[in-house]
Amino acid sequence: MIVMGIETSCDETAVAIVRDGREILSNVISSQIEIHRNFGGVVPEIASRKHLEDINDIAEYAVSQAGIKIDDIDSIAVTRGPGLIGALLVGVATAKAYCLTLNKRLISVHHTAGHIAANYLEHAELKPPFVCLVVSGGHTSLIKVSDYDDFEIMGQTRDDAAGEAFDKVARVLNLKYPGGPEIERLAESGDEKAVAFKRVMLDGDSFDFSFSGLKTAVLNYVNNERQKGKDINKADIAAGFQQAVIDVLASKSIAAVKSAEKEIGGRRLVIAGGVAANGSLILHMKRACEAEGIEFFYPSKKLCTDNAAMIAAAGYYRSLKRGFDDMDVDAAATWRIDG
Ligand code: KG4
Ligand code: ZN
Repeated sequence: MIVMGIETSCDETAVAIVRDGREILSNVISSQIEIHRNFGGVVPEIASRKHLEDINDIAEYAVSQAGIKIDDIDSIAVTRGPGLIGALLVGVATAKAYCLTLNKRLISVHHTAGHIAANYLEHAELKPPFVCLVVSGGHTSLIKVSDYDDFEIMGQTRDDAAGEAFDKVARVLNLKYPGGPEIERLAESGDEKAVAFKRVMLDGDSFDFSFSGLKTAVLNYVNNERQKGKDINKADIAAGFQQAVIDVLASKSIAAVKSAEKEIGGRRLVIAGGVAANGSLILHMKRACEAEGIEFFYPSKKLCTDNAAMIAAAGYYRSLKRGFDDMDVDAAATWRIDG
């Protein structure tokens, strides 16, 4: 089955063609980052307008890059939510228009299910069940993936997402948007022990996260040092902050894998989402998993951040489990993955 994936939930206009949920035939991503960077973050109205301008050209290009004819496509998977409503609407309307004019079937996909499915595109041997840590700009969740379209949230952030914390701390340090890659680069030359930030673990054995306190701690530290007339060492702050996030993500993920071990029949952890593009996070997780006898899977950097191949892959598996959607399906700014 050949699926066209469409992703427009935030600031990437993306279309991809994927065979049987596993093989990428093309994966075209047009990023709006340079436009939004001028505003220090994504401006929703600009994002929707730009998606609208670009989506048809990108879709045509994705088909030509795949070396197929548009008629070879069996169905069209689109991110229905969660995300920016105007941006999502462009993708959903485009998918419906293609379905109606080309007589194809529609599959609506949860954006986070897409991030998880990015791993299927690169690890032929990976199949559920497993525990997945999803870390992106909008989400930080530990999800039990019992089957391809069966998700249970074990824990999630009570305030900021991990990527959001990276972006906000970057802003405090006057770095460019998006902050994750900037902090990672800066942290390489910093000493993670020079400025220690508190690891917020929350109560007992909860798998929930909280990152807003960490962001405030960085802000307070920077303001205090500046008030004392001291120069701040941005690299040390970036390294200290990054390590605090990594420690919390790693220890909670490992605890979640252990708690689900019996049900899952083994120790298996998968990571997904934009923050998984962070090399230090991956290295730390790999080592921690090795020490605990946990099998660990992560996508390559290109498939960590938003793309449409992951939407096509998730859509393929969703359609196998749940069939196709009616044309009356609507974009949804909020949508629970376990709903
Ligand atoms: O998954 P994604 O592309 O979009 C959402 O669904 O949110 O994730 C974007 C987020 C941004 O917050 C960005 O700062 C973060 O992922 N990010 C990173 C890195 N690359 C992207 N965070 C830490 N280190 C990175 N290398
Ligand atoms: Zn995303």
